[in-house]
Amino acid sequence: MHLKIAVLPGDGIGPEISVQGVDVMSAICKKFGHTVEYEYGVVGAVAIDHVGDPFPPETLQLCKNSDAVLFSAVGDPRFDNDPNAKVRPEQGLLAMRKQLGLYANIRPVETFKCLLHKSPLRPEIVDGADFICIRELTGGMYFGEKYEDNDRAYDTNHYTRKEVERILRVAYDYAMRRRKHLTVVDKANVLASSRLWRKVAQEMEKEYPEVTTDYMYVDNAAMRMIQDPRFFDVMVTENTFGDILTDEGSVISGSMGLLPSASTGESTPVFEPIHGSWPQAKGLNIANPLAQILSVAMLMEYFDCRAEGALIREAVNASLSAGVATPDITGNKGRQFSTSDVGAWIVDYINLK
Ligand code: IPM
Ligand code: MN
Repeated sequence: MHLKIAVLPGDGIGPEISVQGVDVMSAICKKFGHTVEYEYGVVGAVAIDHVGDPFPPETLQLCKNSDAVLFSAVGDPRFDNDPNAKVRPEQGLLAMRKQLGLYANIRPVETFKCLLHKSPLRPEIVDGADFICIRELTGGMYFGEKYEDNDRAYDTNHYTRKEVERILRVAYDYAMRRRKHLTVVDKANVLASSRLWRKVAQEMEKEYPEVTTDYMYVDNAAMRMIQDPRFFDVMVTENTFGDILTDEGSVISGSMGLLPSASTGESTPVFEPIHGSWPQAKGLNIANPLAQILSVAMLMEYFDCRAEGALIREAVNASLSAGVATPDITGNKGRQFSTSDVGAWIVDYINLK
């Protein structure tokens, strides 16, 4: 197979972890006889600085001409506390999602045996937790009609039947390939948009008799996720709820630096870590590259390269078991490993396998 990858390192720690992702991608492709070419683009604050646009047309074109996008992170504190900022790095991410039609965001929540003690939850509660959150990514409040002046502001939580149907379809497909349990998360006791979600899901449920579908209010789901995370197999929800619940889910594993995600839909799929740009750590070579590296595993699996994905996961697990990990995992005691140490260890593991 030949792969054309658009690499968008973005801001903060983005460029540092991006390098590790690319190195692992090259190693795995070489090992399995695939060829890969990379082309780099700007997104986020770095794109604002270069061309005044967080997702410039050249970057869109680059993504469209590629088989997949390997994305890192966007965000810069220069923009965070300025409510009058006309353009923000995050708009680059949102524009990318919208313009590539990436309506399905797949965020797995997995635990790593050797890291159970790092979880904020008790080991006996998290041990074995393994679920996927499917977050709708191009609708809802993020993209609905907005208004703001100095006295009044609103965001509209807008969904159409078609948008709900296509994301539920993705969720059922995942449920069919997993433990056949789907939880539809909404706020149907209050929100009209949620009632549409529930109506459409109740209709579609009949097409998937093998899948147990249950419905849960989002407040309850937030609670259940920390009380009994093993309850969940596949969870599907709207954009805003999914944003919040996946941050909650991402720390269950012990570090936010571990979890990758995929965004798929109408055009080129994007693979990226769940975590953000961690501007305070920029240039320090301390950020955990594993979420980026596992994004490469998701990328390979998307193209049905299961053995490739499995070897990357094996290498990641081996590094964690060997204690070759960044300070978010190891704390400040013992031997310290940098972003590039961890990346290089994983590349070596793959090469020697
Ligand atoms: C995420 C992020 C983004 C979101 C931000 C950066 C716009 O938090 O990918 O979850 O809210 O979707
Ligand atoms: Mn988020």
